Amino acid sequence: MGAFSRAACQVIDRCRTLAQFTEEPGFTTRTFLCEPMREVHRELTDWMTSAGMEVLIDAAGNIRGVYPATHPGARRLYIGSHLDTVPRAGAFDGVLGVMMGLALVELAPRRFNYAVELVGFSEEEGVRFGIPFIGSRALAGLAIEERTVQDAIRAYGLDPGRIAEAQAGPHALGYFEIHIEQGPVLDSMGAPLAVVDSIVGQSRFEAQFAGAANHAGVTPMHLRRDALVGAAEWIGAVEREAKSRPDLVATVGRIEASPGATNVIPGTCRATLDVRSPSDAVRRSAVEHILECGRQIAKRRSLRFESEQRLDQPAVSMDESWTALLEEAVEKTGAPVHRMASGAGHDAMIMAQRMPAAMLFLRTPGGISHHPDETVRSEDIAAGLAAALEFLNLLEARVA
Ligand code: HGY
Ligand code: MN
Ligand code: MN
Repeated sequence: MGAFSRAACQVIDRCRTLAQFTEEPGFTTRTFLCEPMREVHRELTDWMTSAGMEVLIDAAGNIRGVYPATHPGARRLYIGSHLDTVPRAGAFDGVLGVMMGLALVELAPRRFNYAVELVGFSEEEGVRFGIPFIGSRALAGLAIEERTVQDAIRAYGLDPGRIAEAQAGPHALGYFEIHIEQGPVLDSMGAPLAVVDSIVGQSRFEAQFAGAANHAGVTPMHLRRDALVGAAEWIGAVEREAKSRPDLVATVGRIEASPGATNVIPGTCRATLDVRSPSDAVRRSAVEHILECGRQIAKRRSLRFESEQRLDQPAVSMDESWTALLEEAVEKTGAPVHRMASGAGHDAMIMAQRMPAAMLFLRTPGGISHHPDETVRSEDIAAGLAAALEFLNLLEARVA
């Protein structure tokens, strides 16, 4: 078994080890700066230090390890992905990119003419506070002002007043992320890898319908102001809008009715909204239409409809010259070259606002992700490591 195959097996073992650090025994659920993240940081600090990196946890809760260059003052390549997960996640979304970055440093035959900084971001999914990309926003030098986030940072033992120190320095060369595709495309093509050329834009909202809680037995149907039924009608409108165009998806991922008893008419109902499209114009027009539907349904049902935007992330193109270099690297390893857009959001879309960014996708068997059955093939990890190491070599020639 070659070096890449051995490394691939270790990558999978490490992902499975970290998957056990969870807020929900029996499942992998690890949100922003939760207690199990300390165990991840402890384990990763060990592995990264043994790989010759200087390791620190920054004020946004990102773990960062620097693999020095051949000379001081060199430029710096950031390789990263996220360590937080959605509830009841798989073992590879995010974590795989950090473990493959670690494997690249361990496989590196020498130091490069640029330093490599491996970053495990503290929050990409946005599960704990509905605010995604906290870790990469800190590295990209974007402000993090949300009070809830700052309190969580303090509770973890970090100082939110020092978040500005977490940003990448002027020596930044660029950002490289390896991630599972999370969809069915590569699996349906029988292809192990893809180079990502763009990431779709996404809007996220918290919506609320408010009516009147009342007795489920004695309140006649025509006298009700049922918030959950209003939300249910709205969810149908969300699906109809999303089905109206091939370049649009929309999801209501969470709904919470209260007071939540069988025999009480729901007085309020909160629902999340996630809308994505490669076209920002299509996405924003769909959002407008969906919110207007909410207002119309509320009016007809004598309910109140409110919505709060949590994310308005434009679609992002990866750096064209880095993407071409990554394609060249894949080609040099003999793997088939395939370019594609990402329907999932990634930290690369935040980092691309600050420096050249490139992304490599690995096949997701069965196209299953954000689910315990999410998996990855060892041979695809080996192919990904070979291509990524080739990319680091090509980058060195460009920096020279
Ligand atoms: O939601 C996403 O697209 C990513 O998995 N955070
Ligand atoms: Mn995810
Ligand atoms: Mn991810």
